[in-house]
Amino acid sequence: MSEEQIKNLEAQFEARIARDEKIEPKDWMPEKYRKTHIRQMSQHAHSEIVGMLPEGNWITRAPSLRRKVALLAKVQDEAGHGLYLYSATETLGISRDELYEQLHTGKAKYSSIFNYPTVTWADMGAIGWLVDGAAIINQVPLCSTSYGPYARAMIRVCKEESFHQRQGFEIMIKLAEGTSEQKEMAQDALNRWWWPSLMMLGPTDSESVHTEQSMKWKLKRKSNDDLRQQFIDQTVPQAELIGLTIPDPDLKWNEERQSYDFGEINWDEFWQVVKGHGPCNKERMKARVGAWERGEWVRDAAMAYAEKQQTRKEKRAI
Ligand code: 3HC
Repeated sequence: MSEEQIKNLEAQFEARIARDEKIEPKDWMPEKYRKTHIRQMSQHAHSEIVGMLPEGNWITRAPSLRRKVALLAKVQDEAGHGLYLYSATETLGISRDELYEQLHTGKAKYSSIFNYPTVTWADMGAIGWLVDGAAIINQVPLCSTSYGPYARAMIRVCKEESFHQRQGFEIMIKLAEGTSEQKEMAQDALNRWWWPSLMMLGPTDSESVHTEQSMKWKLKRKSNDDLRQQFIDQTVPQAELIGLTIPDPDLKWNEERQSYDFGEINWDEFWQVVKGHGPCNKERMKARVGAWERGEWVRDAAMAYAEKQQTRKEKRAI
């Protein structure tokens, strides 16, 4: 294809993005657009699947049948979110096996937030309330992202995320209204999950290598800092409502900005965790790679069955 033809295609593509048209798998797209979508969408999918591990750790120890059922449903939802997102990513011409290989070898990232331990039941509340709360703020704008399969996957995911956030906040309400030990457990979980939840929304805009281009392509609709501020402004009143204290001595309502000013985020910690040196990175990867290896026979059986079915179908067609 000549330079001229490529320039034409790029101009038409940019005009489609400007008109807020959805780009579909079979449409022409710049190679960089395709690549950055594979990057972000696959890492989103990996995050959903790895995100099942910290909460899965508490399913057998839930304090009641009702809590167990809600947590089980939430963890199953996350698996479904991962499958929607892997399927959406595959429309960009990459196989599921390649995606998993990228995760298992560390070539692909997953969200830093899932590298922290879940040490008490209150962590199930804090994760639902804070992590899924931040996820909703991050994912709602993605419902109008320019790539069709991603936007459509997000619409389904966001409906379920609201249940995740609600069940988490309800756990925190119950604990905060419970005995002094239970309230202390809820406060301890908030202390441990607050800052990692702020980091989950990505580095500051000045440090973000992808934001500018992702905003131009309407992959990203809000910047990391805007999403973070929205999350803080929404969450602080919720903590106050249940009598918990946000662990940030610099947190202060700014009347002029109509937003909260907040303290310095420990970006060294963030990058340490992103680079694989968080409290649970090794444990999470060991669990994921182990599940992949133990599941090989299931994949082989499913493939053999599919091939048998296909042969039968072809024989019947003769
Ligand atoms: N954890 C790990 N890596 C992170 C990160 C985080 N919290 N935030 C940023 N990074 C990485 C980026 O992936 C990028 O590295 P890469 O080039 O190797 O991909 C680098 O840090 C620079 O960051 P940028 O801000 O430039 O990257 P993005 O423009 O991709 O912004 C993002 C980061 C805001 C997380 C964006 O990728 C995004 O919105 N992704 C979709 C949502 C998502 O993945 N959420 C993760 C949690 S999933 C979840 O919450 C499930 C729920 O059910 C709990």
